[in-house]
Amino acid sequence: MDIWFHPSKEIESLLKKSASEAGLDDGFDPQVRPADPRFGDFQANGVLAYAKSHRQNPRALAEKLVSALNNSPEFDKSHVGVSIAGPGFINFSLSPKFLSAWLTRYKGETELKAAASRFYNGKKVVIDYPSPNTAKQMHVGHLRPMVIGEAVKRLLRFCGADIVTDNHIGDWGTNFGILIYGIKTQKYTLDPSNENSLEELEQLYKRGSAMAKESEEAANAAREELVKLQKGDPENVALWKGINSVSVASFEKMYKLMGLTIDFTLGESFYRDKVGRIYSELAETGIAEEDGGALVVFLRDHDRFKTQPFIIRKSDGASNYASTDLATLLYRVEHFGAEEVVYVTDGRQQDHFQQLFLTAKKWFGAKGYRLPELRHVWFGTILGEDGKAIKTKSGEPVRLKTLIDESVSRAKSILLEKNPDIDAREADAIANTVGIAALKYADLVQNRTSDYVFSWDKLLAFEGNTAPYLLYAAARLHSIFRKAGVSPSDPFELDASPIETEQETALARKLVALPAVFELTLSELRPHYLCNYLYELSGIFSTFYNADKVIVDDRKTMARRLMLCSRTLGILECGLRLLGIEPLEKM
Ligand code: ARG
Repeated sequence: MDIWFHPSKEIESLLKKSASEAGLDDGFDPQVRPADPRFGDFQANGVLAYAKSHRQNPRALAEKLVSALNNSPEFDKSHVGVSIAGPGFINFSLSPKFLSAWLTRYKGETELKAAASRFYNGKKVVIDYPSPNTAKQMHVGHLRPMVIGEAVKRLLRFCGADIVTDNHIGDWGTNFGILIYGIKTQKYTLDPSNENSLEELEQLYKRGSAMAKESEEAANAAREELVKLQKGDPENVALWKGINSVSVASFEKMYKLMGLTIDFTLGESFYRDKVGRIYSELAETGIAEEDGGALVVFLRDHDRFKTQPFIIRKSDGASNYASTDLATLLYRVEHFGAEEVVYVTDGRQQDHFQQLFLTAKKWFGAKGYRLPELRHVWFGTILGEDGKAIKTKSGEPVRLKTLIDESVSRAKSILLEKNPDIDAREADAIANTVGIAALKYADLVQNRTSDYVFSWDKLLAFEGNTAPYLLYAAARLHSIFRKAGVSPSDPFELDASPIETEQETALARKLVALPAVFELTLSELRPHYLCNYLYELSGIFSTFYNADKVIVDDRKTMARRLMLCSRTLGILECGLRLLGIEPLEKM
């Protein structure tokens, strides 16, 4: 990272260098964090802890460090001001000259992306989302993996990752026995052109499983259908394929609607013939053992998993979710060259992924395979107003399509209310964008590991941290340019004088903080950090816009303020796109 993109990172590394020159040992961690804007742009808090553990005077230590920093030839005092505060905090504040120069350099998405790509630097990342199970319609439960997965993917790609998206659909399992049994007993014909196929399959499944519960005979018949499928019986294989292709076709419509792009769909069934190697390698390395006919992994050095087995082959010899996931991981490393794998699922799968990651670590270690970085990006549940998982009145999960349609139609009513003269076609297009954006943003703005209560009023509000508010902020910026008769991409920096007023400075500092927000968002793959930043940026922009007139007589002042508008718009739109939201020029 260079100072020109991410000044606080650069300061951190300069501080480390200065620390060793000032005689501090390797244990010194500068802890550079964003600061209270009244005191500066960022601050180093690490002196206190170091002084305490080394029984030194923190203030004196801070002074020593700052003088070493000031003597460093790499440290340019015209960029950053340094001061010591309190018992030994070191505050840094970016100079107006630096702020102007940064804004001149990072004109827009292209320049930002080129610089941000240093975060991942071409690293191969496989991201596993939204990975639904087949034979079911998409419902509200699929919203989070779609929305979070897409945002994480876009962010990683923007930050330089070489991304492969792999949709690990659940297209293999015991439910197919019941489904095929249901299809056969109800004499149902699968028709790919039938829009309601998935809904009907769900009903068939329900009826089939009720029958299997009631009668031993039906249960056996369903089990036999499954065995036949597993043995490759042509009729059952054809039915199974039909069910999956109907499912995938219906999923694809939803992906399109939600703006998802998927590179590969290699579901669980793809790994059926690849699990043999898993069994033998895990057994041969002593990582897995036989237990009551099943093949299991006990993780002896883990508190819970030393007694809670990770079953990798069932006692009937069949593969399961764990065996296919182990095979999937190996495939991603050997076939895609994955250096990092990101899994996006709900929080109930935390044990599965912990066991998977720990098992993989042992196995890859024993075999000398290169272990990629493994990250489970899990999320909480969407709750109804009653605080329970959101359901329809009849207790069914809300269909995703229904949810989207309702969001769009509500957005349209709000729009027409605010703007009764709007052209009908234009209203539809805007409502479509706003409705879908509102659903996405309401999800992304939550810390993903928390549950949240779904509320139409909140997500479609034009005030507060919502998609309509941010979309409106971007559209308003466009209107500023339209009014001024210039384009956001005009080279305002050529005429602009240095950042001057308090509000200009506050806005410029917020813009320059973007790389630190990328860093934070990437470190935990939590898109809400980016959402909060965009919301704060819009607020700071409003303050600036209310205080400092943009269209003024002084040419240099106007250019400087238009440059600030252009950078705000650029970062706002870039951020929205990273969240999977297409900005609007008019609203
Ligand atoms: N199909 C699973 C589900 O719906 C999610 C799969 C996630 N990916 C994985 N490699 N296990 O819960």
